[in-house]
Amino acid sequence: MSSTPPPLAAYWPLFGLRLATPRLMLTPLQDADLPEMCELILAGIHDRAVMPFQVPWTDAPTEELAENVLRFHWARRASSTPDDWSVMFMVRRRGVLVGLQELQGTDFAVTRTVSTGSWLGRTHQGQGIGTEMRSAVLQFAFDHLRADRADTGAFTDNAASLAVSRKLGYRPDGTQVRQRRPGERAVEQRLTVDRASFVRPDWMVQHRGLPACLSAFGL
Ligand SMILES: CC(C)(COP(=O)(O)OP(=O)(O)OC[C@H]1O[C@@H](n2cnc3c(N)ncnc32)[C@H](O)[C@@H]1OP(=O)(O)O)[C@@H](O)C(=O)NCCC(=O)NCCS
Repeated sequence: MSSTPPPLAAYWPLFGLRLATPRLMLTPLQDADLPEMCELILAGIHDRAVMPFQVPWTDAPTEELAENVLRFHWARRASSTPDDWSVMFMVRRRGVLVGLQELQGTDFAVTRTVSTGSWLGRTHQGQGIGTEMRSAVLQFAFDHLRADRADTGAFTDNAASLAVSRKLGYRPDGTQVRQRRPGERAVEQRLTVDRASFVRPDWMVQHRGLPACLSAFGL
């Protein structure tokens, strides 16, 4: 007679991690999230006339987009190691998936530096959610992973992303010229914030499941 196997979190501890803010729940992406995520992406993240991402993945033809997204997330999750980790947090508001917040670290035990990237479905933008979810992972990194520094970047025409960074205390950290679409030149503004200059909100991120994940963060 077979007994019920333990949940996947017993083998992949990140699946047991939870962050909570006043309005949002953040959980590392699992396969069960993928249908809802594909639907959110297909409904649109940005005006097609602009490209906020370094890799212009949202330009893929509609019939290829979801498959590309699945390949990317399966590959990135599988290649995440304690020396070079990436956690793709699914961001939910009242149980509904609204976007994704990535937290990434390379040789983190030594660098004590994280980087972030994020997007929201268009209908969820402009309501302070982008600020709240970035603030959540910054608090988590500074206070619970003992990060010293967090880096990010945005193209100079991405006013919303730059505004979120400014509000949270990031300062400019140089620029980089990129080809963001074939033949299209764009300037990326790099930004950085440290624990002391992080502009904290009036709430504290709640977390669950961290002790089992420390080794996944290289700690
Ligand atoms: C970037 C993103 C995650 C921000 O999330 P959001 O929930 O829309 O952001 P918030 O509502 O928390 O804050 C946005 C801020 O930008 C400001 N803003 C938005 N558009 C702006 C514009 N055109 N000019 C100036 N400021 C602008 C808002 O006023 C707000 O600042 P405020 O709270 O001081 O008024 C979201 O807009 C998004 O997913 N965009 C598309 C994908 C993307 O750009 N990802 C980031 C790639 S670097």
